[in-house]
Amino acid sequence: MPDIRLPIRTDRLVLRRFEAGDLDAFHGYHSLPLTARFLPGPAKSYTQCMERVGKYANFAFDREGDWVALAIEVADSPGLIGEVVLKWLPGHGQGEVGWSLAPGARGHGYATEAAEAILKLGFEGLSFHRIDAKLDEQNAASAAVCERLGMRLEAKLVDKWRYKGEWATEVVYAMLRDEWNARAQ
Ligand SMILES: CC(C)(COP(=O)(O)OP(=O)(O)OC[C@H]1O[C@@H](n2cnc3c(N)ncnc32)[C@H](O)[C@@H]1OP(=O)(O)O)[C@@H](O)C(=O)NCCC(=O)NCCS
Repeated sequence: MPDIRLPIRTDRLVLRRFEAGDLDAFHGYHSLPLTARFLPGPAKSYTQCMERVGKYANFAFDREGDWVALAIEVADSPGLIGEVVLKWLPGHGQGEVGWSLAPGARGHGYATEAAEAILKLGFEGLSFHRIDAKLDEQNAASAAVCERLGMRLEAKLVDKWRYKGEWATEVVYAMLRDEWNARAQ
C-alpha cells in the first residue's frame, strides 16, 4: 500500500481513519434526502451505513479501484462532521475526489479545507498526475468547492445519469499535478 500517514492535520481539521464510533454520526447525515440529493443512491439506511463505515474503517489502497475515505473532525471539537474520499482510477496516475458534510458543518469552508488536504495527499503523497471530481450540474455547493480549490471545469455530460426520477447532467472538474504545484507556490 502506498504510504498514507494518518491523521492528516490542517489549520482547523483532523482527517483520520473511520472507526466504529462514527456510525451514528455518519448515519445522521447520510440518512437525509438533503445529503443524498446529488449522490447516485437514495438516502442510506442504518445497515447501509454500517457497511460503509466498516469499509471505510478497513480501507486498503493497494490497486486501481481502491478508495481512501477519511473521517473529518474539527480539531478543537472531536466528532465526525463529514468525509472526504480519494479514489484510485484506472489509467496512469489518475484519481477522483469527493466530499460530504453533515448539514450543521456546512458554510464554514471545511469541505474545501479537507479536499485541499486530500488533493495534497493525492499529488504530493501518492504522485497522482490528474485528479478529477464528478458532480451533478445542479450541485452548486459542490461546484463551488471545486472552484475554490482551483480545479478546472473540463466537461459537461448531458443527461449522463438517471436517478431520483430525473436525468442528471454530470460536470467534471479536474486538476493536474503541474497545476497543483503552480498553485502551491
Ligand atoms: C458539497 C458540500 C460538501 C459543500 O459544503 P459547503 O459547506 O458549502 O462547502 P465548504 O465547507 O467548503 O464551505 C464553503 C462555504 O463556507 C463559507 N465559509 C465560512 N467560513 C469560511 C472559511 N473560514 N473558509 C472558507 N469558507 C468559509 C464560504 O463562504 C462558503 O459559503 P457560501 O456557500 O455561502 O459561499 C455540502 O453541500 C454537502 O455535503 N452536500 C451533500 C453531499 C454532496 O452533494 N456531496 C458532493 C457530491 S459530488
